[in-house]
Parts: sequence; C-alpha cells; structure tokens
Amino acid sequence: MSSIETPRLRLREWKEPDTQPFVEMNRDERVMEFFPSAMCEKETTAMMGRIIKFFSEHPFGLWAAELKQTNEFIGFVGLSIPSFETDFTPCVEIGWRLAYKHWGYGYAPEAATACLDYGFNVLKLEEIVSFTTVLNLRSINVMKKIGMRFIKEFEHPNIEAGSRLKTHVLYSKNP
Ligand SMILES: CC(C)(COP(=O)(O)OP(=O)(O)OC[C@H]1O[C@@H](n2cnc3c(N)ncnc32)[C@H](O)[C@@H]1OP(=O)(O)O)[C@@H](O)C(=O)NCCC(=O)NCCS
Repeated sequence: MSSIETPRLRLREWKEPDTQPFVEMNRDERVMEFFPSAMCEKETTAMMGRIIKFFSEHPFGLWAAELKQTNEFIGFVGLSIPSFETDFTPCVEIGWRLAYKHWGYGYAPEAATACLDYGFNVLKLEEIVSFTTVLNLRSINVMKKIGMRFIKEFEHPNIEAGSRLKTHVLYSKNP
C-alpha cells in the first residue's frame, strides 16, 4: 500500500494503535463542529474499518497522518470517493481531519499538497474536488492555500433541509 512523505509528516496505512487517538479526535466537539454530530467509539471504529477496506480496493484513500519527529498520529488526510450522488459525482475528493491540538501548524496544506501531487502524477487523475459547509472557513482556507478554485455552492443531498450545514462550497483542481 502507498505511503507519502512530506517535510514534517508521514501519510501511511492505518495501524491498530491509531484507534484510540482517532476515537478521541472524532468525539471532540471542536473537531466535529461542522459535521452533524461528534462520533462515538463504535462509529469511529466502523469508519476506520471502512477506510481500511477502501484502501484494499483502491490505490488511494484517507491516509493516517503522523508526525515524522515523534511518530504521533495526528489525524487523516487523503483522497476518497464521495458516496452521495449529485451533478459533480462520481469524482475523487480530497479531505482532512486533524486532532485539535495539531491545528495551527500548517500540517493540513502540507499533507494535502502531497496528496494532490500523488493524485495527479501517480494516479493520473484529471480532477480532484473538495467540499465542505460554507461555514467551515478553516477548511475552505486549506482549499485556497493548496490552489483549488471555487466552483459553486450546492445543497448537500445527504443533509436534511433546514440544517445549518446544508449549503456547501465546491472547490476543484486540475493537474
Ligand atoms: C480543517 C483543518 C484541517 C485546518 O487545520 P488548521 O491547522 O486550522 O489549518 P492549517 O494547517 O492551514 O494551519 C493554519 C495556521 O497554521 C499556521 N502555521 C504555523 N506554522 C505553519 C507552517 N509551518 N506552515 C503553514 N502554516 C503554519 C498558519 O499561521 C496558519 O494560519 P493562517 O491560515 O491564518 O495563515 C482543521 O481545522 C480540522 O481538522 N478541522 C476539523 C475537520 C474538518 O472540518 N475537516 C474538513 C471537513 S470537509
């Protein structure tokens, strides 16, 4: 399975010891502010299982990110295929989620730039998109920093009408 190195990070396959810090990250309300809810342990272990299964079926996925200096797990960054249908799917999406204590160091753009490079130069993808709720300015900032361009706003089909999270932005990048 693929792994990617950046100056400060290693994006690698998932390991059993990632489970506990992943559970802690997903139960943190600050990290999950722009998702319908924080996740309990059972939901996170199920998600980890889906991520690992995805890697067994594709040459990419949401890599576990660790600091090279300490080997500490800090979250995930990577490429995935959205499971909902709308006018820009099927597509490959870039996404990220980092534990709160690792925000503010520029790790997300550093990892995401390497994932774009992998997507375009190794996987030969012709487009990578990213989306999040219009409220998630930190994530939108990452999209801008890695050179993605704003395409449009859209209503996320899997989020209930009236939710504050319904309206999303779509960003895109080509090789
Ligand atoms: C989205 C998320 C990954 C962004 O993390 P972040 O740490 O805020 O973003 P960055 O990695 O870009 O770091 C931001 C700050 O680090 C600072 N920084 C410190 N050292 C740095 C360095 N060496 N290089 C770059 N920036 C550095 C910068 O000042 C930057 O602030 P600025 O954007 O105001 O200039 C994080 O907020 C997160 O995990 N959120 C929850 C999950 C989520 O919403 N995911 C997206 C859902 S679609």
